[in-house]
Parts: sequence; structure tokens; C-alpha cells
Amino acid sequence: MMFRRTLTILALALVMLLAGAVDAFAVSATNIAVSKVGESSAVLVVKTDMDSDVSVDYGTAPGSYTTTKSSNGQVRHELTLDGLSPSATVYYRVTLISGADPSDSATLAESTFRTAKSPGDPFSFAVTGDNRPDGDVVTQPAVWSAIVSQVIDEDVDLALSVGDIIYAMAGDSLEQNVAKYDGYFATTMGLTASVPLYLALGNHELVAYADNRAGFEQEFTLPVNNGADAAAYPEDYYSFDYGDTHFIALSTEIPGQEGLITGNQKSWLEADLAANDRMWTVVFMHRPLFSGQHPLEPWVNVFNPTGQQNKSDLHDLFIQYGVDIVFEGHEHHYLRHMEDGIPYVISGGGGAPLSIPLMLSSGDVYGASAYHHLKVDETTATMQVSVIDSDGNTLETFTLQSLDLDIGSIATYWKSYIAYVFRILSVDYQLSNGDSVDLSNVQVAQLKASGGVTPETATPLAVAGIAAGQSTIFSVNYSVPAGVSVFKTWTYISCQDPQGNTYELPGPVV
Ligand SMILES: [Fe+2]
Repeated sequence: MMFRRTLTILALALVMLLAGAVDAFAVSATNIAVSKVGESSAVLVVKTDMDSDVSVDYGTAPGSYTTTKSSNGQVRHELTLDGLSPSATVYYRVTLISGADPSDSATLAESTFRTAKSPGDPFSFAVTGDNRPDGDVVTQPAVWSAIVSQVIDEDVDLALSVGDIIYAMAGDSLEQNVAKYDGYFATTMGLTASVPLYLALGNHELVAYADNRAGFEQEFTLPVNNGADAAAYPEDYYSFDYGDTHFIALSTEIPGQEGLITGNQKSWLEADLAANDRMWTVVFMHRPLFSGQHPLEPWVNVFNPTGQQNKSDLHDLFIQYGVDIVFEGHEHHYLRHMEDGIPYVISGGGGAPLSIPLMLSSGDVYGASAYHHLKVDETTATMQVSVIDSDGNTLETFTLQSLDLDIGSIATYWKSYIAYVFRILSVDYQLSNGDSVDLSNVQVAQLKASGGVTPETATPLAVAGIAAGQSTIFSVNYSVPAGVSVFKTWTYISCQDPQGNTYELPGPVV
């Protein structure tokens, strides 16, 4: 009898020990996100389900770790991994340590990420959008998991989201908001542990409400470089360089400015575009500039003069500074719209209930009501966009081509007294070929001007070929109405390289 009682007590003790052990190792990672990846450093976010300590070992060969970083006593850890090199693969392993008992720990399987590419190195990125649930729930749509798996298999270098990743509500507490992001992380962590995700805020993140804003700011680690708004809206919009590409994330959700890019953000955008020296410029944001499905929104509502002016101003900025492509969401389908040579690409098929692209605009080229994501392959000379549905079918592929070609006006004059009387203004442009290839069949494909000014010179206008490193000058006439003294012009150029590839700047002319 005594023996049996002893055995029972021993068994109980063993159960208690095991229970203790299970508690200690029950610390689990609820999010791991490679963030702010640069050429020499990155931030690794490790979020756990209870207070913990975390250490990260990393190096540049599998299983060989040269540096350790640690962070203690928190749920959400941000560890700066520095001393890295551009275009490198970094191998890392995370060790979770119990906050209650530091002797208990668990080391997770090794993972990898790649540092930012140097200019000249090709890379690929994914674009996703509108994966949010269909209502006030935490759980993400099942198709979003499938899309995440597709992107993981593609082994891209970075991922962009055009927003609406959760379904925030106006009355959500901070805890409720964070639970929704945790739902997103639970489905997406397999990707973000290796691929940095750059988010453009959507209206369903609902950051005008303080608790939702606090959740977003607490749960994401994004670049902060938006000047005058860095204090109030630190991660809402930002830019970063990666390889030959300059990425600009805009917010269509600044409180009080929803559906517009205006105020500080617009000033910042123009300065950021002017300072950009990369070959490619990619803009991504949530609400589409050209769209037909939200008729009351400022950019869509033709009876909203503020919105229409803002839309025109933004499009002109994109043309002026050579933005190559704009990715957007908000509408739950795929739609490619061309406007003055710039592709505006709506990719809102991440999991929210699908809508049907209406093809309302003359610039709409191709649309599909399908769950999908985009895979973009970038080289110095080309940017190829593939639209892949959640079954793996490629719906469309198109390729943009780039060239180091600069144009500037060098003289503006009345050619004669008659020209002065009839207000026919001549402008000399210098076209410089900064590339390493000779260009032939150079043409001014299209001319545009603002302020009621109209081009008088017929297009296409043939221009002499331009050897590598050389420039040429051509003249264009504009009809300028009386009273107009300041106006802008846009000049579209097409040309060919020695292999016969045709380039159209700033983009395909349609
Ligand atoms: Fe939206």
C-alpha cells in the first residue's frame, strides 16, 4: 500500500515536472518579420505570445553564426542585425528564452533572408493587396494562405502590400486591433521570416482611430523618412532604394485627407522624386488614381474639384519625374490601366470578396476578376510583371524597358515676329544618351502641355540617332494662348538599341 502511494506521489511529481517543462517551452513566436532590409543591416522583428527574452545568431554560411544579438523582457522584439554586405544571403536562428525561467529556451530552425541588392543586381518582388477578411474577424481568408505559399515558392527578394490587410473597426480596442494583425502574421509569417514586407496603408486599417493607429505603429517596422509628418504619421508613407529601383509607399489614408495625396505628403513626394537617382521608380498605394468603383471618392468623383485637381497634379508629377509604374489596390480584382504611358496596376485580389473590373476608362487595358498576386522581375534594363492567379495560372505578363535617357529644355524663344504675333513659341530640347548603347530610330512619339497650350509640331517627329554618351538637340513649337506665361510640357520618346529592342519613355505610348 505504502509502495503504491509512493508510486502515485512520484507519478504526480513527474506530471508536475513535465507540466513545468511544457510551460517553459510554451513560449512561441507569433511573428517573425525581416524588416527595413538595407545593404548592410536589417531589423528582425520577433514577437512572442508572452514576455520573453530572444537571441538571434547570424552569419553568411549555413549553420555558421558569427554574431549574436539579444533582446530581453518583452513580447515584441526588434533586433538590428548589422555588419552585413549588399546582395548577401544571411542565415539566422532565433532562440526563445522563457521570461519566467531564463534556463528554459527553445531554438527555432534556421532561416534566411537576403540583404538589399546593389545597383546593377537583378531582383524580384511580389505585390499583393486586399487580403483582408470579409468582416469583423481575426482569421484571414483561406485563399490568402495559398497566395502566401505561392510567393514563398517564388523566392522573391521583397514583397509589397497595397493595403487592406485586416478588417479594423471604429470601436476596436488596441488589443482587438493587435489580434487582427496577429491573425495576419499567423498566416503570413512563413513569408515575412525571409522576405521583407513593405505595406501601404489601406482604408480598412482605419488608422484615423487612435487605437487602430497605435496597433499599426506598434506592430510594423517600416522606414521612417517622411520629414514633416515623421512625428504624427511616422510609417504611413516612406521611400527606400533597392537595387536599381526606388520604391515609394504613399498613404491614401492620412486622417482628414483620405482619398488624396496632399499637404505635407505631396510636398515630400515631389522632393523625394526630385532626389531620386535610381533607374526605376515604383509607387505603391491603396486607392487607385484612375478607377470607377468608388464613385464618391475624390479622385473618382468628377464633381469634386479638389479631388480632380489633386489627381491631375499627382499624375503630372509621376510623368514629370519618370515614375515607371504605380501599384494600387482597393478594388478586389486585377486591372491594368495605361495613362500617358504609365501603367496603373490594381492588384486587390488577395482574399477579400472579388469584384469585377468594369473597364470604364479608355485607358483600361486588361482586367480579371481573380484571386491573384503579382511577381515582378527587375533588371537594370527591364521590369517584367506577371499576374498569377491563386491556382498558379499566369493571367498576363508585360515588360517595361528602361534606358538612361535624359531630356531637358535648353531654350525658349519666339522664332520670328510673325511667330510672336501668332503666339507660336519654340522650345529647344536636349536629349542625352547616358547609356552605353547607341540609339537609332529616335522619335518624339507624343507631345503634351498644360495650361491650354497645344503642341503645333506634328508627331511622330524623327530625331537624329544618338551615340552612347552623346546628346542631340531638337525643336518643338507650341501654340500659347494670350495670358499664359507658365506651363509644363511632357515629351514622349521612342528609340531602338542595336539589337532592335524598342524603348518608350516614360513608358509605352498608347
Ligand atoms: Fe480599400
